[in-house]
Amino acid sequence: MPGITLGDTVPNLDVETTHKNFKLHDYFADSWTVLFSHPGDFTPVCTTELGAMGKYAHEFEHRGVKLLGLSCDDIQSHKDWIPDIEAFTPGSKVTYPIIADPNKEIIPQLNMIDPIENGPSRALHIVGPDCKIKLSFLYPSTTGRNMDEVLRALDSLLMAAKHKNKIATPVNWKPDEPVVISPAVSDEEAKKLFPQGYKTAELPSKKGYLRVADVS
Ligand code: BEZ
Repeated sequence: MPGITLGDTVPNLDVETTHKNFKLHDYFADSWTVLFSHPGDFTPVCTTELGAMGKYAHEFEHRGVKLLGLSCDDIQSHKDWIPDIEAFTPGSKVTYPIIADPNKEIIPQLNMIDPIENGPSRALHIVGPDCKIKLSFLYPSTTGRNMDEVLRALDSLLMAAKHKNKIATPVNWKPDEPVVISPAVSDEEAKKLFPQGYKTAELPSKKGYLRVADVS
């Protein structure tokens, strides 16, 4: 995946959106943002995805996280498309801004290109308040994303950040489930960080590296 990736600062581009025009860093300031791209307006998969994001908007808002869409058409087209998006997904309200990129000039700068098609993809970056990319998905245009997974991955990032990356979340983790203690944390430090205690899995290797803590 060439271009900006995990840990890189998203370029501070001037963008035109369905709400107003702004610089990306002004939008990202002081909160986490889910920035997600779409190949084009009035296309079936994109219509379902943007509708799902509209339906989940309150979940992101509840976590203090902003949404920012991008689709490779102009503002008038986005505005004309929104009623279709909301009609197809009952309960959806497209309250988040959608960036216009009719000439596909922004997507390469945000590394939202499908390298096989050499064209638009379904890319998604979760951007931290420091304007750096914390997580990226890259799907081809033929595969719609799973918004439950976006939310689950976001919850994992927020949980790890809350614990200064001293914890990680295991496979299929969901909020309220136990987390694992990072291998970089010694047992001595773990005892201080988790005074409520933690469990070390007994494994054939006896290496004691899989330590599970309840932080809920
Ligand atoms: C879609 O959103 O349905 C779509 C867009 C581009 C290529 C294929 C599907």
